Amino acid sequence: MKLSISALCKLAAFVFCAGVFMTVNSPGTPRPAADPDFGEPLSELTATQMDLFKTGRLIFSSKRSIEDGLGPIFNDFGCGQCHDLPAIGGAGAITETNFGRMVNGAFDPMVEFGGPVRQTTGITIQGSCRIGGEAVPPEATIVTERQSQPLFGLGLVENILESEILANVDPDDLDGDGISGRANRVMDPITKVMSLGRFGWKSGVSSILAFSATALLNEMGITTNVFPRENNPQGQPPFCDSVPDPEDLDFDGDGQSDGMMAIANFISFLGPPPRGPITDAARAGEALFSQVGCNKCHIPTLYTGDSPIAAFHRKPVNLYSDLLVHDMGELGDGIFDGLATGPEMRTAPLWGVRANPKYLHDARAGTLEEAILFHGGEAAASRDRFVALTATEKLELLAFLNSL
Ligand code: HEC
Ligand code: HEC
Repeated sequence: MKLSISALCKLAAFVFCAGVFMTVNSPGTPRPAADPDFGEPLSELTATQMDLFKTGRLIFSSKRSIEDGLGPIFNDFGCGQCHDLPAIGGAGAITETNFGRMVNGAFDPMVEFGGPVRQTTGITIQGSCRIGGEAVPPEATIVTERQSQPLFGLGLVENILESEILANVDPDDLDGDGISGRANRVMDPITKVMSLGRFGWKSGVSSILAFSATALLNEMGITTNVFPRENNPQGQPPFCDSVPDPEDLDFDGDGQSDGMMAIANFISFLGPPPRGPITDAARAGEALFSQVGCNKCHIPTLYTGDSPIAAFHRKPVNLYSDLLVHDMGELGDGIFDGLATGPEMRTAPLWGVRANPKYLHDARAGTLEEAILFHGGEAAASRDRFVALTATEKLELLAFLNSL
């Protein structure tokens, strides 16, 4: 019984589990009338799940102080600082730096230099101590920027059946279409099991809860029961931060840090982005999207399986991604993460892409058309077919992207 509860509620606190069982026992929930708007919750939540969403949103939006455990080094004061466009839970205009180097043919994330993620800021305690932000060490040979990603609909993404994702894996390109696609596998820091990666620009993280713990540590310097040790500034022993670890406390005694759980609940229950205007041009563009082969990686729909949570039970997820990593040639960022190699990047989901401030992992593209033109490697043939379209057809395809 204990096992089945934790399996059902893998990203939730005890209260949330109570909500789950209420869902199981309650009569069928009505179908949603309309898509939720950006930043709104999934439309089929129970009252308990809605309360968890709202509490989580408050904590996600809040700013941390030094007394809360912020630092010793950090990138910003709260999740909402980098995930608020066009609404809370969205993308952000900020990029952050990742670095590493190759040693004897293997990737070295340079942990002893403070890698692989640079923290730009440190805390200051008046009259006592001051920590500067980290610099990229001169020994680093691989340096890349990473843009923050929107979190809309990620609970649905987490519930997509593994078999749905693995069905598109084709590492040796047996179907000869020039597109391979590999699943990333990573150690989940919570379950301690090698798991399918789905989140982040390289599918390097396997669950929303794991991402929440990672982000608390890497972005804010907040330790949790998952990562109880501070990030070392530039690889040096941490100082200045005297708040006992883990800083994110476990008041309800379920063994998990409460802030981390609340944040994960908020992200899980965030609704998918609403569709944009579906014009005649967008409809024509949809056919072109398949014709030039964008849909080979940007797969329109994957499905969730059985779930005791009505909002996740057998749902189509129109994310326009296979969640696999592909060799993108020059576009790849050089970082290795789990099984993903330097040139391999996760197919970016295209739902809601019209709301992103910039495009591609390092925000190098200011327009959707530029984003397509930067595709290389396995996507080069598809890019070239896009380039060969007439001016009108290009506008139609872009209208389709703006309708997602
Ligand atoms: C300083 C900016 C910044 C802050 C603050 C921040 N993030 Fe992010 N977020 C990013 C970046 C950059 C990425 C892309 C990560 C990658 O793949 O390298 C990201 C990606 C994510 C993703 C993966 C999205 C996807 O589609 O796979 C999740 C989940 C996430 N962040 C959650 C959080 C949470 C929870 C917090 C607060 C604890 C947070 N972030 C705070 C910048 C930020
Ligand atoms: C071989 C797989 C593949 C094919 C084919 C492909 N893409 Fe992509 N696409 C990706 C990957 C991987 C990324 C993320 C790359 C990065 O950020 O470095 C991406 C990113 C994008 C982005 C940017 C999304 C964002 O959030 O920044 C857009 C827009 C896009 N693709 C549109 C298209 C269109 C349109 C086509 C067809 C002309 C296409 N793609 C074909 C794999 C593919």
